[in-house]
Amino acid sequence: MPGTGRIWASLPIPALLLDHQDRITNINPAAELFLNKTIKGLAGALVYDKLVIDAPVEEALARVRKNRSPIFVNDVDVGTGERAPVECNLQIAPVANDTSQILFLVSPREIAGRLGRSISADKAAKSAIGMAEMLAHEIKNPLAGITGAAQLLSMNLPKEDLELTDLIVAESRRIVKLLDQVEQFGNLRPPQLKPVNIHDILDRARKSAIIGFAAHMTVKEDYDPSLPPAYGDGDQLLQVFLNLLKNAAEAAAMDSGEITIRTFYEPSLRVRRKGEQAFRVPLQVEIVDNGPGLPAEIADEVFEPFVSGRENGTGLGLALVGKIIAEHKGWISVDSVPGRTVFRISLPVAPKHMQQDLDKETR
Ligand SMILES: Nc1ncnc2c1ncn2[C@@H]1O[C@H](COP(=O)(O)OP(=O)(O)OP(=O)(O)O)[C@@H](O)[C@H]1O
Ligand SMILES: [Mg+2]
Repeated sequence: MPGTGRIWASLPIPALLLDHQDRITNINPAAELFLNKTIKGLAGALVYDKLVIDAPVEEALARVRKNRSPIFVNDVDVGTGERAPVECNLQIAPVANDTSQILFLVSPREIAGRLGRSISADKAAKSAIGMAEMLAHEIKNPLAGITGAAQLLSMNLPKEDLELTDLIVAESRRIVKLLDQVEQFGNLRPPQLKPVNIHDILDRARKSAIIGFAAHMTVKEDYDPSLPPAYGDGDQLLQVFLNLLKNAAEAAAMDSGEITIRTFYEPSLRVRRKGEQAFRVPLQVEIVDNGPGLPAEIADEVFEPFVSGRENGTGLGLALVGKIIAEHKGWISVDSVPGRTVFRISLPVAPKHMQQDLDKETR
C-alpha cells in the first residue's frame, strides 16, 4: 500500500516490528529516538533484551500470537538500560495478513496523554483516536482521486451503469465526512474559558436545531433565569448542545417528538477527579427527549468513540461532547428509559471577580 511507509515513518509513537521469535526486524524513527539506537544495532535482537520492561512481556507476546488479537498493557516502566525507565503504555498487535509478525508500540505516557483526552479512562481508546487521526489524513487524498476517477468514468457510461459510479461517489463522500469528524476530534483545542451566559448559547443551539435537524419536533424551554455565568468556551459548548439536540432529534419519533431544554442550579454538586480537589459544578443543563431511549447493548459505552446505534452514525458525537466537558472540568451523565432520555451537563460557575466581563459574543 503506497503511503504506509510514510505512516510508519511519521508515527509519533515508538513502534517495533518483531518476527516469530520476538526478534526485532524493524523500528520506526520514533523508536530510534526513544531507544537512542538505529535499526542496525538492534536488528535480530530479542525485544526483551533491548527493552527493560517491568511486565511479563514474553507472556503477552505469546498470548497475542495464540489469540491473534491485540493486547494493551498500561502503566509499565520501560527502560533502555541507558537511562531511567519511563512510564509507558504498550500496545501489542498481530500484523494483519502476516501471522509471523507482531507490531509492538511503546507509548510514553506523556504522548498517550496528548493523543486525546476523553471522559473515560480507557487509554486504549485514546491511542486508537491518535492512529485514526493520522490515517484520516492519509486516506483523504487517495479518496479524492477515487471520487474524481469515478466522476470521469461516469461521463462515458450508459445510463444503467451510472448507478454504480454514483454509489462510489456517494460512499466516498460518506467516508470523507467520517474522516472530517475524526480530524475534528483530534484537532480540538483546549477550551478558552470565559464567563458565558449559558442561556444565550442554548438559544443559539435551539435556533439552529429548529430550523434544521429538529424541524419536525417541539423544542421546549424550562430555564432558571437567575443562573450565574458559567465558566466555559462558548463555541465548544454550542457544539456540545448541538450534538445532544441532534441525537435527541435523531432518536425521536417523526410525529410526536419532543425535546425539553432545562436549566437549574444545584449548589451541592461536586466532581472529584483522581488526585484533584473536589470541584463545584452547580450549573445544570438537561436535554430531555421522549424518544425510545439508548439502545441497551451500547448504553454503557455511548461516550466511547466509534460507538453508534445508528446506521449512518460515526459514534463520535458523544465522545466529542465528553471530551469537551471533561476539559471544562464539568460532568456529563445520562439517564435513559424508553420514553424519557436525559443527558445532563454540570458546569462550573465563572469565578466571582470575572463575572462582570461576560464574553461579548455570548452576552
Ligand atoms: N437521545 C438519545 N436517545 C436515544 N439514543 C441515543 C440518544 N443519544 C445518543 N444515542 C445513542 O448513542 C449513540 C452514540 O451517539 P453519538 O452522538 O456518539 O454518535 P452518533 O449519533 O451515532 O454519530 P454522530 O453523532 O457522529 O453522527 C447513537 O448512535 C444512539 O444510538
Ligand atoms: Mg450523534
